[in-house]
Amino acid sequence: MDRYKPKYHFTPPCNWMNDPNGPFQRNGEYHLFYQHNPDAPEWGQIHWGHAKSLDLVNWEHLPIALAPSRDLGEQHCYSGCAVVDGQDVRLFYTSIGEGERNATIGAQQWTVKRDSEDLLSWHKPEFNPVLTGELHGDLQVTEWRDPYVWKEQDGWKMLTGGIHEDKGVALIYRSDNLEEWSFERIYYKGEEGIFECPHIFRFGDKAVLFYSPSAPVQYVTGPWSAEGLKEVEGRGTVDTGGWDGYYASTGFVDEAGRCILLGWMPECRGEDFPVQLDWNGALALPRVVELKPSGRIAMTPVPELASLRGESVTFADVLISEEQSLDTGISSTTFEAAIEIKKPAANAAQVLTISVLASPDGREHTDVRIDFAAGTITLDRSNSSLFSGVRKADMVSELILQEGEESVQLRLFVDQSVVELFAGDEICMTARVYPSLEDSNRILLQSSGEVQISSLEIWEMRAANIS
Ligand code: FRU
Repeated sequence: MDRYKPKYHFTPPCNWMNDPNGPFQRNGEYHLFYQHNPDAPEWGQIHWGHAKSLDLVNWEHLPIALAPSRDLGEQHCYSGCAVVDGQDVRLFYTSIGEGERNATIGAQQWTVKRDSEDLLSWHKPEFNPVLTGELHGDLQVTEWRDPYVWKEQDGWKMLTGGIHEDKGVALIYRSDNLEEWSFERIYYKGEEGIFECPHIFRFGDKAVLFYSPSAPVQYVTGPWSAEGLKEVEGRGTVDTGGWDGYYASTGFVDEAGRCILLGWMPECRGEDFPVQLDWNGALALPRVVELKPSGRIAMTPVPELASLRGESVTFADVLISEEQSLDTGISSTTFEAAIEIKKPAANAAQVLTISVLASPDGREHTDVRIDFAAGTITLDRSNSSLFSGVRKADMVSELILQEGEESVQLRLFVDQSVVELFAGDEICMTARVYPSLEDSNRILLQSSGEVQISSLEIWEMRAANIS
């Protein structure tokens, strides 16, 4: 039994996964591709794994969709997207090879067509590549990759990520037929040194651009125009996880019109991790994204997850103080908790700590800490594991409370080595943790001063059916 393998988060059948690629829904069925090394639990010879689902919760693994065509000089099929055009489905990805075709200066964007209606087999048409760096003319772009295609009224658009003049950029292209593409311009230039996996959600006349800058995933909101995202109306961190828990997001609009965000949960095991595991990487819980009038986004886990809820325990109106902590009496490593905390008076200096994956002897625990005076929320992994080498850095975010909001709402998903926290609808913190002790499974609350827990409900989560 592998105690670190998530039970209700998607994982590959075995070996390596990184970025989710090309999710879509067609005829009710969700499809997901992902960066995959089928031969080892480490990054290399990147293929596209494939799975399908009816509810974004239970998944069926399908045959690998894309493999590098070594005869064509390809070594990796990097990230990309899928395009549903009526009943047709195409994929776009970044083709990486050796020598001149390396990722820094020689990337190409390729397309893939389906062979059959069941989407189980795919081929790379001979007219590939569909985009090469020459399209950029005199504009110098390196680390050019990760095509994301969507439809606007006046035709198909594509975003790619890259580096221009040492800054991360999202570049925009257009096409009428998905085969001939022209480069338009830099759509958005960041302050960061690289942009990976740019993708966009459109809400009316607004656009929200997401990008992965080799640090926590960011978003920027503003009026939509193919001329570029110039007037920024909102921005923020999608998830504090970054390389420690949440990276390389992508998104799609499902058949119900929901904007669904997916992200990769990298491992933080460290090189000397003492347990041999035959898998590496998982998918964060799919989230529904909405754009708020403030220009910021709201993120909530898809409601379909409630189908996994099992037995629950509820606590109502519990006062926690320095003298009175709360031991929920629950031992679990796969649960969801919904917690409503009454905001203490403005001048109160309480710090509330919710410990999960806690051992009874107190040696291991992963803490969610709310410091009401400082207005911060912290996911503290410093005591998550007695193993050395595993990454344990804190994640900290401002505690964002909306005007007039009298309570803090948390949803916390724990799944073996995953802790995913939704605080209100704007803050997400996803972290990987690797407790070493057999009994690191308790849920405890304590506080440095009086804090009223209006409600706490904990559901045991059943394993998703991923086969
Ligand atoms: C992000 C990324 C992408 C690239 C892929 C390669 O994690 O670096 O930019 O396409 O992974 O696996």
